[in-house]
Amino acid sequence: SQSTTGDIRSAIRSIPDYPRPGVVFRDITTLLGNARAFRRTVDEMVQPWPGAKIDKVAGIEARGFILGGAVAHQLGAGFVPIRKKGKLPHDTVSIAYSLEYGLDEIEMHRDAIAAGERVILVDDLIATGGTATAAVDLLHRIGAEVVAAVFVIDLPDLGGAEKLRRKGVTVRTLVQFEGE
Ligand code: PRP
Ligand code: MG
Repeated sequence: SQSTTGDIRSAIRSIPDYPRPGVVFRDITTLLGNARAFRRTVDEMVQPWPGAKIDKVAGIEARGFILGGAVAHQLGAGFVPIRKKGKLPHDTVSIAYSLEYGLDEIEMHRDAIAAGERVILVDDLIATGGTATAAVDLLHRIGAEVVAAVFVIDLPDLGGAEKLRRKGVTVRTLVQFEGE
């Protein structure tokens, strides 16, 4: 509902000029530390999939781990970490993606998700969509069915959610910060 979304929005702290002048950082630590807001956030994230059989929730390091773990618990699904390169001990599949400056790489364990499994991707925020698009491509590459990608925050000015939708991905976001 509108008021639930309002509660979630007001629990997010905005820090001007961080990490660079002109950038407003959307800080979810205040949301995570607020028991009611945290519970409502997780409830809202999973709201369209009450009885759906979801095999795995994939969360993107680092902030996507916190929300993804809670979402997996709520859905009765397993949790799969998508990590920054070099952190996972077993055989991995990895994908490079571009950042504002240079390249980064994320990876997951090759055996973490079987072909055909139904997966929901979780992160705290989608901006340019570079990270989430790479994660979706990685999941598709191992044969997962990406049921949806779910984020607490969307920065629509940066076009990431739109980019994912154009790839045919169902995208759910709870709070939009636009033109601010
Ligand atoms: C932030 C955020 C998303 C990503 C979104 O993570 O948590 O994962 O950027 O940006 P994009 O849509 O432009 O790709 P960040 O890489 O800063 O690191 P963290 O989650 O480890 O703090
Ligand atoms: Mg992140």
